[in-house]
Order: sequence, then structure tokens, then C-alpha cells
Amino acid sequence: MELVGRMPDGSVSTPYDLIGLLWPSAGPPIRQDEKMKRLQGVPIFQRCTQRQLRAVARITEVFDAAPESVLTRAGEPGREFYLIYDGTVRVVVSPRKHLRLGPGDFFGEMSLLDGEPRSATVVAETPLRLLVIKSRNFWDLLDEVPALTRNLLLTLSRRVRQAEQSATM
Ligand code: CMP
Repeated sequence: MELVGRMPDGSVSTPYDLIGLLWPSAGPPIRQDEKMKRLQGVPIFQRCTQRQLRAVARITEVFDAAPESVLTRAGEPGREFYLIYDGTVRVVVSPRKHLRLGPGDFFGEMSLLDGEPRSATVVAETPLRLLVIKSRNFWDLLDEVPALTRNLLLTLSRRVRQAEQSATM
């Protein structure tokens, strides 16, 4: 499993990277309006106004990751919130429970909310394009967009129920 990200030309990822395995997207640049359109399709941003969406688009950075990159590792600190733009990831909730998340899904919210270590390991299954929000911007965002907090809570509650269900199965 690749732990160190590589640029498309094979070199090790640049100082831009957030956690050592992402690199600023080398694909066609995503225009601001395209980013806003994509963000609007993400359930947690559906209630945002155009002004709020513009603010979200401004603070999101676009990163790519190679298949098998470990994006979060259970037990380690986490400082980024990830929205999947393209590709899929595997969330290793437990040795017996793996989940797949795809375009429009998000992960990494738990550590940012409570400051605790990552609850699960998340691995890229395919080449990934991610929209990344750093923790300091994440909190500003929640202050500015209350609907986002509501949506995050809904998703969190769903995730807890699923986790509890599978623990009792
Ligand atoms: P965090 O704990 O910051 O890092 C690992 C992430 O995996 C976690 O945030 C969630 O985004 C995600 N995750 C953990 N458990 C589940 C679950 N049961 N269902 C979906 N996603 C999960």
C-alpha cells in the first residue's frame, strides 16, 4: 500500500501537500462556477445560498490522490475534511465492516468536530479528486452556514446508527 504520494511524473509529492500523499490537482482546473455546481449537488451543501456556496468554493482546495493512498488512518490526528469529487474510497470501520463512499460523499468530519483521533482508516480505491477543507476554515464555515451544521449532524446520526446496527448483527 502506497503511503507516500507521488506526482504523475513519479517524483514525491510537493510541499503543497496536506498529509504527504495528496498533490494539487494536475487535471483540468475546476472553474469556480463548476465547483459551486458540484458543491450544490452534495447533500450537506444543498441548503446553501449562492453567496454561501461561493464562500465554500473559495476555501476548498482541489487535490488528487492515487489508488491505495491512505487518506485517514484510525487513531491518528486529523486536520482535514474531504469531499469526494471523483472516484471512490473504502472506509475501514472495523476488520469486518468496510464501506464505500463515492462522488458527493464526505469523510473526515468526526476528528474536526471533536478533536479526537480519526475513527476509521480511509483508503482510495480509485484515482481520486478531492475537495479539501482545512480545520480552521471548517469551523468558520460551520459558523457561517448553519444549514451545513444541520446536515452534518444528520449524516453523523445516520453513520452512528449504521455502526450500531452492524455491531449488533
Ligand atoms: P474521521 O474520524 O475524522 O476520519 C475517518 C472518517 O471515516 C470519519 O471521520 C468519517 O468521516 C468516516 N467514517 C467513520 N465511520 C463511518 C461510518 N460508520 N460510516 C461512514 N463513514 C464513516
